[in-house]
Amino acid sequence: MSVQNAILQVHEMIIKAKDGRKVVLRKPKMSDVKGLLNFINSLVREDAPILCNRRMTFKEERKWLKGVIEDINKKRKIYLVAEIDGKIIGAVEIRKGRFREKHTGELGVSVIREYRNLGIGKEMIRAIIKLAKKDRDLKLLYLTVYANNKVAQHVYEKIGFKRVAVLKNRIFYKGKYINQIVMELPLKKMG
Ligand SMILES: CC(C)(COP(=O)(O)OP(=O)(O)OC[C@H]1O[C@@H](n2cnc3c(N)ncnc32)[C@H](O)[C@@H]1OP(=O)(O)O)[C@@H](O)C(=O)NCCC(=O)NCCS
Repeated sequence: MSVQNAILQVHEMIIKAKDGRKVVLRKPKMSDVKGLLNFINSLVREDAPILCNRRMTFKEERKWLKGVIEDINKKRKIYLVAEIDGKIIGAVEIRKGRFREKHTGELGVSVIREYRNLGIGKEMIRAIIKLAKKDRDLKLLYLTVYANNKVAQHVYEKIGFKRVAVLKNRIFYKGKYINQIVMELPLKKMG
């Protein structure tokens, strides 16, 4: 195995969905651009409770993925895609803070509709937390979630995230302004 392959293998994990299907969690590579484009556009089509609300083009996705891979290599981000039978069905990331926020990481996760409620979201978060714990800098994870996104809040609470703040009227979603909840999960002792 080449050194580069060895590095690429580090972040590969296998989990089992509740229906018994094998889910591969691994780092993304440039050849995933089409799979990731289908993934994001499927969430956009659904009008899922995520920031992106417009279909991406191949060119935009390629540029974005290049940036993601650079961020992973420079240890600014941890990012895993979830794949079933070669199809990207989920993604989870931790964006590391900079400077005085270097000890923090913001978590984001999504699974496409047809693959939800199979335990994949929760297992993806567990897997990325394992990687985050190995990162010397990361001590505190946080995330924001729409106040009406009860499924995601349920998953985060099961993992151990606690609500710490409410950002009023932060999001315009489905024709109205809604609050965003901030949740935190300490990873290591601080202070
Ligand atoms: C949030 C999300 C990633 C969860 O992924 P998932 O693979 O479906 O999650 P899991 O299968 O691990 O867990 C789903 C849990 O929600 C529960 N659930 C399902 N419908 C629910 C509802 N209406 N209210 C509360 N809980 C609900 C399930 O019972 C399950 O909990 P359990 O393990 O205690 O039985 C996924 O729903 C998603 O991608 N949603 C759209 C995008 C999104 O919201 N991203 C997060 C933005 S903050």
